Amino acid sequence: MKFSYSNLSFLLLLTLLFSSVSHAQDDTSQKIESLLSKMTLKEKIGQMHQLTGFWDVTGPVPADGDSKAKYQQLRNGEVGSMLNITSVKEVRAIQKIAVEETRLGIPLIFGQDVIHGFKTILPEPLAESASWDMEVIKKGAALAAKEATAAGINWTFAPMVDVSRDARWGRIMEGSGEDPFLSAQIAKARVHGFQGDDLTSPHTLAACAKHFAAYGFSESGKDYNTVDISDLTLHNFVLPPFKAAVDAGASTFMTSFNIIQGVPATANQYLIRDLLKDRWGFEGFVVSDWGSFAEMIVHGYAPDAKFATEKAIVAGTDMDMEAKFFSNHIEELVQNGTVAMEYVDDAVRRILKVKFDLGLFDNPYLYCDEQREKELIGTKENRSIAYESAVKSIVLLKNEASILPLNKSQKVAFIGPMVDDKNISLGNWRLQGEDNSAVSILEALKAKKIKFQHAQGVRLVEKQVSFPFEVQLNTTDLTGIEEAVKLAKEVDVVVLAVGEDGFQAGEGRSRAYIDLPGLQKELVEAVSKVNENIILVNHSGRPLDLTKETALSKAVVQAWHLGTESGNAIVDVLYGAYNPTGKLPVSFPRSVGQLPIYYNHYSTGRPTNPGNDLVFWSHYMDEEETPLFAFGHGLSYSDIQIESFEISSDSMTKEGTIEVKVTLKNNSDIDGSQFLQLYIRDHAASYVRPVKELKDFTKVSLKAGASKTVRMVVDKEDLSFFGPDGELLLEPGVFSVMVGLSSDQLLEKIVTLED
Ligand code: GLC
Repeated sequence: MKFSYSNLSFLLLLTLLFSSVSHAQDDTSQKIESLLSKMTLKEKIGQMHQLTGFWDVTGPVPADGDSKAKYQQLRNGEVGSMLNITSVKEVRAIQKIAVEETRLGIPLIFGQDVIHGFKTILPEPLAESASWDMEVIKKGAALAAKEATAAGINWTFAPMVDVSRDARWGRIMEGSGEDPFLSAQIAKARVHGFQGDDLTSPHTLAACAKHFAAYGFSESGKDYNTVDISDLTLHNFVLPPFKAAVDAGASTFMTSFNIIQGVPATANQYLIRDLLKDRWGFEGFVVSDWGSFAEMIVHGYAPDAKFATEKAIVAGTDMDMEAKFFSNHIEELVQNGTVAMEYVDDAVRRILKVKFDLGLFDNPYLYCDEQREKELIGTKENRSIAYESAVKSIVLLKNEASILPLNKSQKVAFIGPMVDDKNISLGNWRLQGEDNSAVSILEALKAKKIKFQHAQGVRLVEKQVSFPFEVQLNTTDLTGIEEAVKLAKEVDVVVLAVGEDGFQAGEGRSRAYIDLPGLQKELVEAVSKVNENIILVNHSGRPLDLTKETALSKAVVQAWHLGTESGNAIVDVLYGAYNPTGKLPVSFPRSVGQLPIYYNHYSTGRPTNPGNDLVFWSHYMDEEETPLFAFGHGLSYSDIQIESFEISSDSMTKEGTIEVKVTLKNNSDIDGSQFLQLYIRDHAASYVRPVKELKDFTKVSLKAGASKTVRMVVDKEDLSFFGPDGELLLEPGVFSVMVGLSSDQLLEKIVTLED
């Protein structure tokens, strides 16, 4: 390449930039070493101890709820981080103790579960994942960071990147669904949204990839249950989103409650020290999940607390959330030679590094600005971001005879407990989101001056107990159904707004039955008997079994728990102000008996019925094999179809690529968008591979009647997979390259990867 002046100046600039960054890193590491050399063992252990706030707890309430003792621990420099402190005033007061009353004045880092918004509540993460829109997801995380940092928080316990295939698991609502590739893209977007380009900014906070690892594979979908998976599943399905979080620069990780290969994650050296820290080069720190140290004893792994403490720190866990094992046992373990000081120093270096990265040493009160707290939280601008995320997360699952979108001249009845509800759509993990602060469907209809009629039919929630937010459902009162049926007889169309409560999903909220809770099934049954034009709008944190209700409805809309702007987003989709673009990040089962059900499954030796043999193949006698709605499914009001699909060659070398060319056409008179998806299949490999795997997707927007050709590239990375020890394998042979608008409707071409 001939060097021009501009090339030279660009190279000089790059060199200057690189050297200034590495100079800053050297400068920080010198400061860390200097500080470390001054710290006593007690002060080092203090950094490794995270204490919950004195007000709000998100786990089992600790034995010593005595706040006086906690203040004394702070003054002694025995605390490195606090969680659940929720205002500038409180953060400043506690930071003041750490900075001005301890010997070395090391600032605290303040963590919180900013999972889907802080006060302006975004769609729950699984819902937001249905947008498949990385820019929207990144903007949402940045909004959450802006509000949380304005309240003094500088560390969020998010993104949760646990792949899950089981809708019984309540925490499926916190992640990004069943696919590792989509989850990895979303993990990156959320880390970048939270951390921004400058972690020292008062508007950005440290991210935390959790729960490391495989928590989403809890057996039977029961929370905190056994996890027993193969190394192949671990490396090919579970770990890719975590690796993506490291590559995106996540500052922290959190270990999971479960065992992996028989060892609790918090003490799993293969996972943390060998893989995360050594092989992936992670430079941040790892915090345990709430009390998980003590659970190592209950698991039957650690005979006592000292053993658990030793195994955890040697494995690479750097900070202890609320178990007090580090603070109670590390000193003795180091002094008696059981634990080498180097493990303590490694942990403390990592914790101090994140505090330096956040700018807390330059200004411990950087996040404590009452003016920002007043001005930046709950603003109109924030709500517009929440609206965009909500409307793009809605998935149109069924639309028979194009009954949707509605028009304002139709006589429409809105029936069901979710019509005037302002609370349920805030979902779980709603943090500072005030109860009843969501826009209801009813309010949105009125604000948009849409004529409608309304009947509740049945209540869903009878009573909501405050902490820990137990929900008591209405299971007896059917008296409202008569009025609902009467109304349904008089109108053209009925919108049935139903679902599960926000606290029926989330942590500790697994369900063995995932049908519509309470008396809603009865309501749908009764109304559908008198009006065939039913539009079902389902609000849930997880996939529900909507099989019967779908058969009784002409349209089905998945409205998740969409947060503050829920009602506005739903009404805009129902009346066509927004043409839906959402795609399912998780399969919807026909029945709970199918779980776990997921698209990227292995073939098995008997995947289909050979015809003459009605019994001996992989199937249920009493249920279909396919899901009710497939991963990647989502309809538009536009009729967008694939017109042509070509590949540049039917073979490629390991260093080569295949170009995929797809032309899509909008055969309708409505402008719209669809997500084109690209999948591959490795027909034969040294370890069997799934029948299809998502490897790329792109949003295609088309004006009415227009066509567009998009190009995607398949390379060796797309055809590679991991062996049992995480080794990357690329094996010659036959592959399918498939494209489509849903994982269950794909066009296929065959490609050979040459040796
Ligand atoms: C909880 C959750 C974890 C959360 C932590 C702090 O038990 O498992 O996701 O970040 O405690 O609230």
